[in-house]
Amino acid sequence: MIKITTLVENTATKAKFKAEHGLSMLIEKDGEFILWDTGQTDAIIHNSKLLNIDLSKIKIVALSHGHYDHVGGLKYLLEHTKPTVYAHPDIFRKRYSKLSDDGNLRYIGIEDREFFEKKGASFVLDEKPVEIFDGIFTSGFEDMHTDFEEVDKNFVYEKDGGYVKDYVEDDMSLVIDLKDGLFVLFGCAHRGIINIIDNVEKQFNKKVVGFLGGTHLGPAGRLQREKTIKELKKRDYIKIMGPSHCTGMLMTATLYCEFKDKIIFNNVGTVTTL
Ligand SMILES: [Fe+2]
Ligand SMILES: [Fe+2]
Repeated sequence: MIKITTLVENTATKAKFKAEHGLSMLIEKDGEFILWDTGQTDAIIHNSKLLNIDLSKIKIVALSHGHYDHVGGLKYLLEHTKPTVYAHPDIFRKRYSKLSDDGNLRYIGIEDREFFEKKGASFVLDEKPVEIFDGIFTSGFEDMHTDFEEVDKNFVYEKDGGYVKDYVEDDMSLVIDLKDGLFVLFGCAHRGIINIIDNVEKQFNKKVVGFLGGTHLGPAGRLQREKTIKELKKRDYIKIMGPSHCTGMLMTATLYCEFKDKIIFNNVGTVTTL
């Protein structure tokens, strides 16, 4: 049995938990604890205590991409454990979001590699899929091929003394290889969930039977939202959908209207067993 506990998310199942714009999920398999993302602040520490999770047991961490709301909790986690941390080599880009057309930028990246290494993290950076535990893989680089999914127009990163468009090439997902298919955890899915689903199905030669995590459909345009729903309907073999985080309440409600019992409302404290 595989148990997935959501430690950080934008909303919570009980008032005692901290909710924030961020994501973190803990996978338990064969007595091993694997952490997917860390949320934005020390909410991960607060919520784990309430859920009776011993953070010192987490020796494997995988990061979806280098945005503050997924990696911000890592420095707090490193006070409790010194794990191996898997990510894409481009995760440390100095990245920003344009606040408006006047060019004001907001920093949305993370600290340097050395900052985390001094605190005890050991990084394994790879753009190809890596098996981080028995049957659990990073997706590796996700190529973009649909004509309706796009990366947020406001993202840029520092390059050669200037700013260039950030296509979030470091965006990865986590793939759990089950007997009857693949179960996928998204981070923010900046490169599009249909792109990601197609990629992992090709890479692992199996169908995706379920997913949990950020879909980025909340900030996406109407066309992307509509076409994504259409494409999900074509993939009837997907039995569990847990849209979270950057999906937003409105889009989660829309997905519920379309997919009914397939939808899991995935918030802090939600436990999903596979
Ligand atoms: Fe995010
Ligand atoms: Fe993000």
